[in-house]
Amino acid sequence: MKVVIFGARGYLGTYFSKVFENALTPRIDISDVDQVISAMEELRPDVIINAAGRTGRPNVDWCEDHKEETLISNVAGPILLLNECAKRGIYMAHLGSGCIYSGDNGGKGFSEEDPPNFSGSFYSRTKSWIDQILKEFPVLVLRLRMPFDGTNEERNLITKLKNYNQILDAQNSITYIPDFLEASKKLIEKRATGLYNMVNPGTISPYEIMEMYKEIVDPSKEFKPFKIDELTEVTKAGRSSCVLDSSKLQGEGIKMKPVKEAVEEALIAIKG
Ligand SMILES: NC(=O)c1ccc[n+]([C@@H]2O[C@H](COP(=O)([O-])OP(=O)(O)OC[C@H]3O[C@@H](n4cnc5c(N)ncnc54)[C@H](OP(=O)(O)O)[C@@H]3O)[C@@H](O)[C@H]2O)c1
Repeated sequence: MKVVIFGARGYLGTYFSKVFENALTPRIDISDVDQVISAMEELRPDVIINAAGRTGRPNVDWCEDHKEETLISNVAGPILLLNECAKRGIYMAHLGSGCIYSGDNGGKGFSEEDPPNFSGSFYSRTKSWIDQILKEFPVLVLRLRMPFDGTNEERNLITKLKNYNQILDAQNSITYIPDFLEASKKLIEKRATGLYNMVNPGTISPYEIMEMYKEIVDPSKEFKPFKIDELTEVTKAGRSSCVLDSSKLQGEGIKMKPVKEAVEEALIAIKG
């Protein structure tokens, strides 16, 4: 299986390059048709993984002021990849996001069939648009949420939380990167297509994660809870807080650990 990863130098692309050790990782602009065609003609992949996209630095607020760049990378680029893959019979996997929902859908969580209902940030809107476009085609869309693991990576959810004094107190779905990578690899190997919610079963609040952090890693850590509507008062763009239903993935016989077990495993690794 010849794999090409776009966006391989990004946070998640770096992890995918480790999982697919022999993957080729061209440095091209996925929104430039000539560069995309040259890469596909030269490299002739069986599979492409699109981990390229604009996520904003230091955070998604950046996307509010850089709408063209965000739109081009998050929507136009993936459509171009879709078209060039379709012409050549190349299988495409794309990194989507669960941040296109808000709430817990009456306790059921949002399934892959539910239309997006969160449009509070431009970043989320671009992720919704491309999600709903790609679902019409035989493409795999891996929807993850607030990824975390047992490292000190700055983009790791736990690293971000430990630097805040006030922590969101709302149940959420989150994605443990080691489980996510293993599950994604299985879906890619079996050439699954369609939308998949790639979150650990169960829910947890960021506040609960920090309570576990305090217990396992640093008993001196102090923090206070806050509610999601208080956050939107201090950020430029809204942030999604949501629960996703992961039963479609489980129905494929692909397991991710229960969320609290995954958080505990990550925290033990962080403690070292
Ligand atoms: N991290 C999360 O919390 C999260 C959650 C859910 C979904 N996702 C999705 O996962 C994907 C990867 O996210 P990430 O966290 O790994 O982001 P990241 O660290 O910002 O990496 C994205 C990579 O894409 C590259 N890129 C941007 N526009 C490009 C273009 N037009 N052509 C080629 N490369 C381009 C960037 O390169 P340069 O910076 O060098 O330009 C960067 O290396 C995104 O689609 C994101 O929406 C992320």
